[in-house]
Amino acid sequence: MHTQHKIILGNSQQMPELQDGGVQLMVTSPPYPMIKMWDALFAKADPKIAELWQKLSADCQEETVTQIYDAMHDYLAKVWQETYRVLADGGIACINIGDATRTVNGKFQLFPNHARITEICEKIGFTTLPYILWKKPTTKPKYKGKGAFLGSGFLPPNAYVTLDCEFILLFRKGSLRKFQPHDQTRYDSAFTKPQRDEWFSQIWTLKGTRQTTSELERRTAAYPDEIANRLIKMFSIKSDIVLDPFLGSGTTAKVAMQNERNSIGYETDQNLLPIISKKIGNSKANMATDVQIIKR
Ligand SMILES: C[S@@+](CC[C@H](N)C(=O)[O-])C[C@H]1O[C@@H](n2cnc3c(N)ncnc32)[C@H](O)[C@@H]1O
Repeated sequence: MHTQHKIILGNSQQMPELQDGGVQLMVTSPPYPMIKMWDALFAKADPKIAELWQKLSADCQEETVTQIYDAMHDYLAKVWQETYRVLADGGIACINIGDATRTVNGKFQLFPNHARITEICEKIGFTTLPYILWKKPTTKPKYKGKGAFLGSGFLPPNAYVTLDCEFILLFRKGSLRKFQPHDQTRYDSAFTKPQRDEWFSQIWTLKGTRQTTSELERRTAAYPDEIANRLIKMFSIKSDIVLDPFLGSGTTAKVAMQNERNSIGYETDQNLLPIISKKIGNSKANMATDVQIIKR
């Protein structure tokens, strides 16, 4: 099957390249609010967030921390809103997100990103479906958020539970997707019984990419191919269009190509183009595909 893949170097808060209802599936992992490695990106992308961090260093107010957290989710919400527009009726949105724990102004806090995104997506009009917990077996327990437990970790009561799961939130736009009876492409896209039994259970234990990828890819916090592979096979059929509005290193596009789906990816960081091209290029061998790179 011949497939097409578009990499758009631009901001996915607006996707003028896509018409209403033209995409069947969205699979993505955004920058995570209140996780330190993404602070600089949020501040660069939205001057209001940069100003709020400056305000916090001057006023040290809890309220300012809340405003930063809200502003980061406002930034992401524009992408969820635009995703809703471009998804077809019955289309599914899959969002990989982790909660954050952080001590700001000397106060330990949990930032439940998964709950905030769920509330925002419901307000937009999505129907929330049961989510998946991605359990990463390598995460080490921490003591007071700092390093390993060591000996003191055996003494109650000041340790807290390690965040060793991320969420894969699942949403549907509108009603169930409709097909003609005996739609051949749908049958050709079927998964097996063992796949169904494993993939449609709520906990997925999968290694992160840390063990398997280059330094540059690790800096994009790429998710493992297997996450994209399962989601694409569970929620789309061959020849569908899969969107990733936060493309990073290009995992979603690569896996969509391998599964005979078309793809569209948005990425603001032009420095990632070589790594995206390499990832997609390696998969392209022996496949009938067109890849288009569009600079806004
Ligand atoms: C967590 S990474 C995605 C990792 C990706 N799943 C992978 O496997 O490589 C998030 C990416 O979103 C990009 N990004 C942030 N805001 C964006 C926006 N408004 N539009 C497009 N890309 C954006 C960042 O530059 C970053 O590369």
